[in-house]
Amino acid sequence: MCGIVGYFGKKEAQPVLMEGLRRLEYRGYDSAGIATMEGDVIRITRSVGKVSELAALIKEGDQSNVGIAHTRWATHGKPTESNAHPHRSNDGKVAVVHNGIIENYKELKEMLQRSGATFVSETDTEVIAHLIRHELSSGINLVDATRTALVQLKGTYGIIVMSSEYPDYIVAARMGSPLILGVGDNEHYIASDASAILRYTRQMVYLDDGEIAVVGRGGFDIRTLGNKMVEKEIELIDAAEAEIQKMGYPHFMMKEMMEQPDVLLNSTRGRLDVENGMAILGGLRDVADRLRDIERVIIVGCGSAYYAGLVGEYMLEEYAGIPVEVELGSEFRYRKPIISKNTVVIAISQSGETADTLAAVREAKEKGALTLGIVNAVGSTIARETDAGVYNHAGPEIGVASTKAFVSQMTVLALFTLFLGRQRSMSLVTGQRIAKEILELPDKVKEILIQQDKIGDIGLRYKDVAHAYFLGRKYCNPIAMEGALKLKEISYIHAEGYAAGEMKHGPIALIEDGFPVIVLAPKDSVYDKSMSNLEEIRARGGRVIMVTTEGCEIDRNLVDDVIFIPKTLEMLTPILAVIPLQLLAYFVTIEKGLDPDMPRNLAKSVTVE
Ligand code: M6R
Repeated sequence: MCGIVGYFGKKEAQPVLMEGLRRLEYRGYDSAGIATMEGDVIRITRSVGKVSELAALIKEGDQSNVGIAHTRWATHGKPTESNAHPHRSNDGKVAVVHNGIIENYKELKEMLQRSGATFVSETDTEVIAHLIRHELSSGINLVDATRTALVQLKGTYGIIVMSSEYPDYIVAARMGSPLILGVGDNEHYIASDASAILRYTRQMVYLDDGEIAVVGRGGFDIRTLGNKMVEKEIELIDAAEAEIQKMGYPHFMMKEMMEQPDVLLNSTRGRLDVENGMAILGGLRDVADRLRDIERVIIVGCGSAYYAGLVGEYMLEEYAGIPVEVELGSEFRYRKPIISKNTVVIAISQSGETADTLAAVREAKEKGALTLGIVNAVGSTIARETDAGVYNHAGPEIGVASTKAFVSQMTVLALFTLFLGRQRSMSLVTGQRIAKEILELPDKVKEILIQQDKIGDIGLRYKDVAHAYFLGRKYCNPIAMEGALKLKEISYIHAEGYAAGEMKHGPIALIEDGFPVIVLAPKDSVYDKSMSNLEEIRARGGRVIMVTTEGCEIDRNLVDDVIFIPKTLEMLTPILAVIPLQLLAYFVTIEKGLDPDMPRNLAKSVTVE
């Protein structure tokens, strides 16, 4: 959840590391720090707040060519300067940055305190610095001291370590938190996320759990915790630098919402055979026969990915006729799920690094299920650990609030439905109709995006509300929950999403004069029922924003505002219905003077349990 970056090479390390931190800031931004090493001196600067606040403290003229840096999302201890990374040993000779959680840090801390270490932070990370120092004092070198320290840790880590006693190399290691080694021309980069170093190199080596990279003047080597050397392939990452810039938009979230028509094109490019009503999913080719025999689908994900999964449940059950369950990653393994070899577990994750979803994948594999990934980040852990999968091709999503990735997750699920449905009893005509409608989605999304001024006006009028409900039925039920998540996570307005039919079972008690309710009522098979819910809200004085299909005659006495979306197949309606909700959340947030890209307490990628 934090971001780490390291450099060993011939450039000045400080600008490289600061640039890396800026690009990683979306992973955590409550404090940041940098350590550079010149000869036998390690210089550390840390600050509370965003990377720009650290930048203001950095002194020019640092000539060092080696360094490590960190941007933090607090887990242990408040965001203070003393809790910010890098952490160091008491003699200042070992410095560490860490992403993850050390579960047994209390026991280790007590042991280290007994042998004389003094702790100056409340973090779990500080034990790593003291522990490595402790191991070094037995006379072993930094690589062995790091290895020996790491085998004593329980929990997750992506770390980079440097020591002024070993200026010729730095050490990085991974266990449960992503870490990538970037290979340049006589220089090396290490980062928790490729975006930090993409502007310098596209040649990457992905570390696996339990691996340690030693990076120095002579190049790099990778070994296991047991000191066995490992040969790794250098992979060429294909991602345009421009994709991780704001491109003139005020926020990444706005840029990413506006990219959605292109994202739909990219997620479906080359994957639809309209004539044969089929989806061509190359990533599933090797498991296509096994998929034919699948009797049950379990979808796992967290946050928005989970809601996309719920949409997938409606799609797959209706059109592929397979029983589907959708499970939160964080609940899956604790529920002791019953899995047979005819179960397919589909993990949905934008980052491909979400710890809870990854744990679910590992649990499912252990139990013999076929595992598939619907993942956006190419080469991420979930993408690599699942048996097969389909990439979203949505491009990097930087805004904490998922927008384009969510839309592409639902789109890939629609392709997946076509794929599994046509393997079973879906008719050619139905397959053709779905394929054709999917291809029309990009233009339909454009029609919604051009309504942004109107939605901005609505946002202005709702910026001071304290609560809101989002209601939807059937395919729009998960969209109600997604709309509520979007609003609450960036505007801090308390919002809840409900299946509209649930209103009368409790939530309606809160409706009184002026209570805001966003009702998703497209012209679909449950339209009349949704309208009845709308009238019930109105009868109690609720203030209604309705999202419905173009051409619907709406009694303006029943609604305060109405946003129209184009007509499409019912199963594809969620892909359109979510767009106005994203825009609404964005504009309310802007009107409140908040930063939608970096909401408080959140980070883009949740790599801790
Ligand atoms: O990277 P993932 O798709 O696995 O992330 C899952 C959730 O953390 C993510 O969707 C989160 O809920 C977003 N902030 C929602 O906007």
